[in-house]
Amino acid sequence: MPTGKERVVFLAGDGIGPEVAEQARLVLEALVPEVELEDRLIGGAAIRATGKPLPEETVDACNAAAAVLKGPVGDPEFEAAEVRPEQGLLALRAALDAYANLRPAVLGDVDMLIVRELVGGLYFGASGVRDDGTVFDTCEYHPRQVERVVRRAFRLAQKRRKHLTSVDKANVLETSRLWRRIVNEVAPDYPDVTVEHVLVDNAAMQLATNPEQFDVLVTENMFGDILSDLAAAVTGGLGLAPSASLSDGGPGIFEPVHGSAPDIAGRGIANPAAMLRSTALLLEHGLGRPEAAAQLTRAIEVALVSTPTQDLGGTATTAEFGAAVVDALAPTPYRVGDGSRA
Ligand code: NAD
Ligand code: IPM
Ligand code: MN
Repeated sequence: MPTGKERVVFLAGDGIGPEVAEQARLVLEALVPEVELEDRLIGGAAIRATGKPLPEETVDACNAAAAVLKGPVGDPEFEAAEVRPEQGLLALRAALDAYANLRPAVLGDVDMLIVRELVGGLYFGASGVRDDGTVFDTCEYHPRQVERVVRRAFRLAQKRRKHLTSVDKANVLETSRLWRRIVNEVAPDYPDVTVEHVLVDNAAMQLATNPEQFDVLVTENMFGDILSDLAAAVTGGLGLAPSASLSDGGPGIFEPVHGSAPDIAGRGIANPAAMLRSTALLLEHGLGRPEAAAQLTRAIEVALVSTPTQDLGGTATTAEFGAAVVDALAPTPYRVGDGSRA
């Protein structure tokens, strides 16, 4: 029986999910064959098989694993349904208390890390329909929910360029005024980090026009969702953008920023780089294997140059890109003495 430390729950997801997840499986088998992958269901696939978007077996397996590797969920078939694939994803994030969603966006001179609060705000507040027909969603934050993600962002900034941008809408929202107050209260504990507050509308404009200025951004759930797609767009597109959703000590969820892309699903042309970069984040943060993570990251870089997919202007299929990554993982034999490659 393998220990929880070496077991990864594998959730392929919907749409292009299984297509990009397959490449992650091949890469993990080549790079860390001793890690066991346990397939479980989530999203539309889980609804079809069990009627539920997040079956209990999936939650139990995730709780007992070292980490969770997940493809996107979502299927047009369930768009208007009562039970929807995305509910499974939100329930999983909540069940694992994966509150700190790290979304790095890197290209050329741009190197930013969005830290998105993931288990609060509009996604998890009271919602419903009033007697008069008014429909409502509520943005709610407890101070402790804000403090833990903000402190995490400060600690991450300390390991980077030591600049933190807190994004809010404090000119309008109570939750944003709470957010800003807490950032200011904890800031003195991180004297080496410079802090700046930016309103979310301006942040979107700055992200589109001058993304090089950002180091770490920290923001609430919904703002982070929107800004991270924008950050992906200015650093090569959704096909490249990974994420890591971390709790305090429990298993993290590693998944691409992108969705199930129904417009291209089933054609074998999705870019698996975001899924593979999420796999690298899993190796680093989920399994504590920074060398394997770095090896994978380098191999992805090689494949992006040699074998680009259609979204990047190339012609490679999903499988061809995955194979190029696996090829680039193989260490080149090197003969000591004459400086030539064997
Ligand atoms: P999307 O991210 O799936 O697609 C947006 C656009 O980007 C599409 O044109 C798509 O073809 C393209 N794209 C996305 N990933 C790509 C890849 N790897 N390679 C090449 N092109 C790629 O967003 P959407 O269409 O708004 O959402 C589709 C479904 O995905 C919805 O059901 C949504 O709820 C779900 N979704 C799930 C997750 C998740 O599970 N984490 C994230 C986002 C959206
Ligand atoms: C994401 C997705 C999800 C979110 C949806 C599918 C619930 O858009 O991971 O960015 O909004 O968090
Ligand atoms: Mn999103």
